[in-house]
Amino acid sequence: MPADDRATPAIQIFADANEVARAAALRFVELGRASVEARGRFSVALAGGSTPKRVYELLAGEDFGAGLDWSNVHVFFGDERCVPPDDADSNYRMANEALLSRVALPEENVHRMRGEGDAVANARLYEDELRGFFGEGAAWPDLDLVMLGMGDDGHTASLFPGTHALDARAAWVTANWVEKFDTYRVTLTAPAISHARHIMFIVTGAGKAERLQEVIHGAHDPHRLPSQLIRPPAGALAWFLDEAAAAKLSGKDEG
Ligand code: 6PG
Repeated sequence: MPADDRATPAIQIFADANEVARAAALRFVELGRASVEARGRFSVALAGGSTPKRVYELLAGEDFGAGLDWSNVHVFFGDERCVPPDDADSNYRMANEALLSRVALPEENVHRMRGEGDAVANARLYEDELRGFFGEGAAWPDLDLVMLGMGDDGHTASLFPGTHALDARAAWVTANWVEKFDTYRVTLTAPAISHARHIMFIVTGAGKAERLQEVIHGAHDPHRLPSQLIRPPAGALAWFLDEAAAAKLSGKDEG
């Protein structure tokens, strides 16, 4: 798929989670090289959770990451749990152990989303950091790539069903109270994500199949299925799926 592809959501289905990870790692490097060639840098927001960990591990290895000049890569985060960076639940810790600490990425190129302390203040700090990087006058951050996972409830980043963050229209980053976890999360908002040049959902496992069918082909119901909020006006949206997660995709849209 050419790096400048602006096609409708491209759904790619692979045999298993490892093949998905390999394909996602390859696409990451393709986009990284194209971004550096075009703009001298590659800005990417990493996904949290467990699925992308294998992708990050592959990128840290010789087979994939060697194809990228990490000195031109700027790493951001799509969301963060409200825990310290060394906590087992920290998205930063997962990415740092799997990738960031294993490649020649300048420290100043890692734009960590703070989880420790006050979530509202951390959201403001991160928005300031994004605006400092992408320009105070920018309408939205033009990240080259945003990597996303999807929960079995249809959430993505920390945009959970029925939560306040789903209605954000101007903020780039927000603190989102998630009742079911009884905690705040800090997250990029849906419009901030949607304005990326490329968006890559990575979804594997049978447990996601039912919801994935609803998100991709079901009725538009973003308060119940927040992943549906990710609709890039100009960017390219791609789904990297394994057969188990894609098992119930009907291929027909219901609106
Ligand atoms: C997080 C992620 C979240 C994740 C989904 C899927 O902070 O947990 O941002 O959106 O991508 O919950 O998680 P798994 O990959 O673990 O299934």
